[in-house]
Amino acid sequence: MATPKEASKRHGELVREIRAHDYRYYVLDDPTVTDAAYDALYAELRELERAHPELATEDSPTRRVGGGPRTDLKTVPHVERMMSLDNTYDEGELDEFLRRVGDGLPDGAAVSYCVEPKLDGASIEVLYRNGRLAGGATRGDGVSGEEVTENLRTIRSLPLVIPHEGPLTLRGEVVIYRRDLERINLERVQMGEPPFANPRNAAAGSVRMIDPREVAKRPLRVIVYGAVEGPSIAKTHSETLEKLAEWGLPTHGKHRNCRTREELRAAIAEIDRSRDVYPYETDGAVVKVDSYQQQHILGETAKFPRWAIAYKFSAEQAKTRLRNIVVQVGRTGALTPVAIVDPVQLAGTTVSRASLHNTDIIAELDVRIGDLVTIQKAGEIIPQIVGVHPEARSGDEVPFQMPRECPVCGTRVERREDEVAVRCPNRRCPAIVKGSIIHFSRRYAMDIDQLGEVLVDQLVDGGLVKDVADLYDLRVEQLSELERMGEKSAENVVAGIRASRERTLDRLLTGVGIEHVGQVAARQLAEAGGSLPRMLEWSEAEAREHVAGIAGFGPKMVESVVSFLFDPVQRALLEELAKRGVSRPQPMPEAAREGPLTGFSFCVTGVLSRKREDVHAAIRAAGGSVNDSVKKGTTYLVAGEKVGKSKLDQAKKHGTKVIDERALERLLGNEPL
Ligand code: IVH
Repeated sequence: MATPKEASKRHGELVREIRAHDYRYYVLDDPTVTDAAYDALYAELRELERAHPELATEDSPTRRVGGGPRTDLKTVPHVERMMSLDNTYDEGELDEFLRRVGDGLPDGAAVSYCVEPKLDGASIEVLYRNGRLAGGATRGDGVSGEEVTENLRTIRSLPLVIPHEGPLTLRGEVVIYRRDLERINLERVQMGEPPFANPRNAAAGSVRMIDPREVAKRPLRVIVYGAVEGPSIAKTHSETLEKLAEWGLPTHGKHRNCRTREELRAAIAEIDRSRDVYPYETDGAVVKVDSYQQQHILGETAKFPRWAIAYKFSAEQAKTRLRNIVVQVGRTGALTPVAIVDPVQLAGTTVSRASLHNTDIIAELDVRIGDLVTIQKAGEIIPQIVGVHPEARSGDEVPFQMPRECPVCGTRVERREDEVAVRCPNRRCPAIVKGSIIHFSRRYAMDIDQLGEVLVDQLVDGGLVKDVADLYDLRVEQLSELERMGEKSAENVVAGIRASRERTLDRLLTGVGIEHVGQVAARQLAEAGGSLPRMLEWSEAEAREHVAGIAGFGPKMVESVVSFLFDPVQRALLEELAKRGVSRPQPMPEAAREGPLTGFSFCVTGVLSRKREDVHAAIRAAGGSVNDSVKKGTTYLVAGEKVGKSKLDQAKKHGTKVIDERALERLLGNEPL
């Protein structure tokens, strides 16, 4: 074992190296090591701290996630009031602002402005004391906010230590990159949780969670846009931003200095043009008087600083009439209100439905059926109602009330203590049964593409199927009696269902919809279980032990899996599936093979000439590894037809080589070089 002195020296080296890699990866978006190399450093650090616990100080990278969940968040006063910005929407209003600034300063004063993106996330305050991350709070009411220090510590773009000893109170925004939101929303949908409406909601919700371990799983980032102690750091705001960046803090790095109205307009237009390629949502530009001395002279109104203004970009919005709010019931039983609006053109498509997400939002906006509403579409995201126009009311509008009974089966709904969602608890509810069958047959699960929504409706409504096990008993004669179903298609459906019995256990575990278990976790669970019959032999204690031993399975996941396996209804279902021979044993993860592709990692995307799974298998057989997404260290992105832009962007970002299918075949040795 190392002597304490050697250990301490190595500890220092590792901490410095990991911090440097975190900075390159999370702040500069430009990593220089592979995931594996980073993980090895991190593992060594953890090991060293286990042997020498005295080295594990508060600011060690291993201490990003400390204690357990709290019961609530404390309210703390801000160092200085967190003000909001006055908004302008056009150049006339911007000219107004420039005129007011001119009027507020001594005659003939030269004014320099700093123009920067307005980040659309959740506002936060971050404190560093003696060079260490010492506190953080949400904006709250501007005077005090909720203390979220432990949560902020989990955000790796935020350094735990900076080379500046003086007090430093930063203002910034917690954001989620669009590409990260796409990924977590996909996972959430797979796990039966509602997707986030937009990156801002996701960021604001995540930063206020009470369990830092859960926060650590969300891909949050902080982007700093100012410092309260700015005047003690530099003479101008833009110099402060540059100093903060030098200290390793995550700034947006996109500010421009302007002197004239024309320069300002060009800088704003430039941000508007580029915002599609920024990884985060930007809803405007902020124009700030750059000199702190001039800011001080201008002062503030009761609400806003007089030295800054937000120039908001017009989101794609439209006004329309809210005709009705219908309530849908998903496969998990969650009731979701959906707005039905008069069809209207928005961002190039006709919109007739909009999202309302949950009852809290309905109450917050006070939306009533019959109201004139503003709907908005941001990026790829589903349109949502963002405002109402009470001045246009006739008095006949009707407030919406979440039904107390499930609109599909009439069972009294329930609200779990820790959730916003209201659920139908009846597992035989046709909406839940239909949703479960659709989920079961999805491509990423049992892949039964003959089962469309219309057929599933017919099967459930006709009483032919009451759970997924019943699918395997369907006979051609029964199906061919259904409307619009010929003998040939009936045979196809039965064959498709039968073929799905050959899917491996992980697909089945994904398909049955265990809360908090997506594709990746299902595969790990399947590897731990081996086969469905084997898993069914586990006692409850054995199950708990096996599942708790899976890497990355926290208490919530373990609980969810164990209670699923021992829930009488779910267990009976799994037994019925086992009886019908559904699912093959899970192949054990192969020890990495040696081959021409050893050491290379691949992501395969788009439409290829053969099934993606087969391409994956070929890569693995040649010693390569495969990922679902392009990450740092991914060597090749194999792009088929119709490849998505986000994958290409990621490849560009991580320096991943993009190759076509033929090039892959050459690497595999199947085509001449
Ligand atoms: S400066 C006193 N700069 O916009 C001026 N704010 O209504 C303080 N925001 O909630 C704000 N990007 O969190 C400033 N580059 C930026 C910003 C920014 C986003 C947010 C801020 C606040 C809101 C202002």
